Amino acid sequence: MEATNLFYRDPALYDLVQADSTSAAACKNLIERHAPEAASLIDFGCGTGRDMVLLSQRYSCVGVDLQPAMVEHARLVRPALDVRLGDMRTVRLQERADVGVCLGNSLAYVHDNDGVSQVFDTFAAHVRPGGLLVLCSPVWPVLREETMRTEIVLPEGVAQIAVTYAWDLRTQINTMHRVWSLPSGIEVEDEIHRRVLFPLELERYAALAGFDVVAMEDETGGELVGSSACTVARRTR
Ligand SMILES: C[S@@+](CC[C@H](N)C(=O)[O-])C[C@H]1O[C@@H](n2cnc3c(N)ncnc32)[C@H](O)[C@@H]1O
Repeated sequence: MEATNLFYRDPALYDLVQADSTSAAACKNLIERHAPEAASLIDFGCGTGRDMVLLSQRYSCVGVDLQPAMVEHARLVRPALDVRLGDMRTVRLQERADVGVCLGNSLAYVHDNDGVSQVFDTFAAHVRPGGLLVLCSPVWPVLREETMRTEIVLPEGVAQIAVTYAWDLRTQINTMHRVWSLPSGIEVEDEIHRRVLFPLELERYAALAGFDVVAMEDETGGELVGSSACTVARRTR
């Protein structure tokens, strides 16, 4: 994954650019609404642990991520967090929480159906019966034909970024291609491949693992209109 995404080669840059915690705040609101008594939480695909900072104000949290560099960075800059190295397709922590979360599109990095089933089995193995699952994931591709140009301010200057998207309906992979013109004058390219799981697919994977979807909404709490959704499911068995 480090090879495909500039952020994963530089977790400090990831933290800098993704500094907002909109999805953590949306997730916290959803948990408060659907499981006000919840006390413990596991964050699957927690990255640098940025969402766990907000969530750990209310819940006892454990985070799991696949990439050693992200886990090392989380432990370095957020030493109070419990962040562990693991693959959410196979990890077994030998503990169960009131809530499992998978935010910031982490689920979209698992591309094949078997892998997605494995991830939902992991959720079932770690969320207690009656507990809650909250997923923030793409449910519709970004379909933009034109190149989007944006810039971000880095400590060493401004980086210009040109972003294009592609959509492969057969595999349901939405590809984001970025060309970074860094303040040093160097140009770097990266490409991120995200699997879109449409709402009814998510419901099906959830049901097969013993979860009932109880809500699916926009990250702002509104009706589902954009490409990302927050899905809330309750473990029934
Ligand atoms: C876009 S980041 C989101 C991180 C974090 N949830 C956030 O919102 O900041 C996606 C993360 O998913 C992790 N990831 C991808 N596949 C994974 C897997 N199979 N098991 C655990 N983590 C995984 C990546 O290492 C990466 O840190």
